Amino acid sequence: MPCDGQGPMAMMPSSAEIERAAAILRGGGLVAFPTETVYGLGADARNPEAVARIFEVKGRPQDHPLIVHLPGTGHLDRWAREVPALARTLARAFWPGPLTLIVERAQGVPDAVTGGQNTVGLRVPSHPVAQALLRAFAGEEGERRFDGVAAPSANRFGRISPTTAAHVRADLGGDVAMILDGGACAVGIESTIVDCSRGDPVLLRPGAITAEQIALAAGIAPRPADAEAPRAPGALASHYAPSRPLMLIAAAQWDSALAQIRARRAVLSLREQPPGDTSARWIQMSSDAVRAGHDLYADLRVLDGCDCELILVEAPPPGPQWDGVRDRLSRAATRS
Ligand code: TXA
Ligand code: MG
Repeated sequence: MPCDGQGPMAMMPSSAEIERAAAILRGGGLVAFPTETVYGLGADARNPEAVARIFEVKGRPQDHPLIVHLPGTGHLDRWAREVPALARTLARAFWPGPLTLIVERAQGVPDAVTGGQNTVGLRVPSHPVAQALLRAFAGEEGERRFDGVAAPSANRFGRISPTTAAHVRADLGGDVAMILDGGACAVGIESTIVDCSRGDPVLLRPGAITAEQIALAAGIAPRPADAEAPRAPGALASHYAPSRPLMLIAAAQWDSALAQIRARRAVLSLREQPPGDTSARWIQMSSDAVRAGHDLYADLRVLDGCDCELILVEAPPPGPQWDGVRDRLSRAATRS
């Protein structure tokens, strides 16, 4: 049963576990925790050594910036040099929720978090476990302030993002002090990222909050990312990728591709498995974009784990509601 992140089905660690996790973070350790999008690998965002440990564990290049997770919208001003009206409007409309805002960083935001850039990515997650953790972590001890948790997705660099605690355990195992289990993530793909630091909104990464929703709230349609856009590893060609080659096939070419590709294959398709098909594994993708996003990474992990030479994926249908899933699949696809 998927956890919706809100209802009575939501899996909650005990308050003692939340307190222990918060204490680990305050002490400079790493905690993996659920958000409504994917699991994050968290560290105290004001502690450069703790943040450095994230990069070590992930095997992520040092200059790739991290998202800082905040306990509430009121914390925006502590991390932003100034908050543009656009950022405030989007925060009001979508926080807590699966939206990351890029703004100019306040003084004292560590280079370790921003990759040395003068901007910082901020988000208030809605998952009750993430919220409980961020609230338990927040506070002051003498001179020290605890008010933000830097967290990338809790996977090794370039691999499939985790949407369950078991995925995190399989990827990072003993390298993380604690994994909070909050069930399966409701959204399943990473947050929408909107750059608010350059005037008009720029969509750096599509996600569950669509370009239309941003346009409605902001009163202006977000521009797509261009060469001016800040560095985003999520924008690298090969990202979110399974270890086996993944071929993305247009719907119109699907039947001929199936007939021609003789290699032992695993399949993710909108269609049912035809009778007599000998694929090692066939998973039918939901025709509902939200559901397909929820299932995407878990399905890719299953296909990657089966005895096959390559993974065939049918390209999702046209339409803006599929932008997030289409983006992740095109980045997962093998390039020659
Ligand atoms: O849903 C999510 O966003 C998840 C959960 C854990 O919150 N986090 C996540 O983090 O996907 P990560 O590190 O895998 O991806 C963060 C993205 C990267 O593409 C990074 O470049 C971009 O956010 N980013 C962070 N700070 C940025 C900045 N200052 N300028 C431009 N891009 C930034
Ligand atoms: Mg990631």
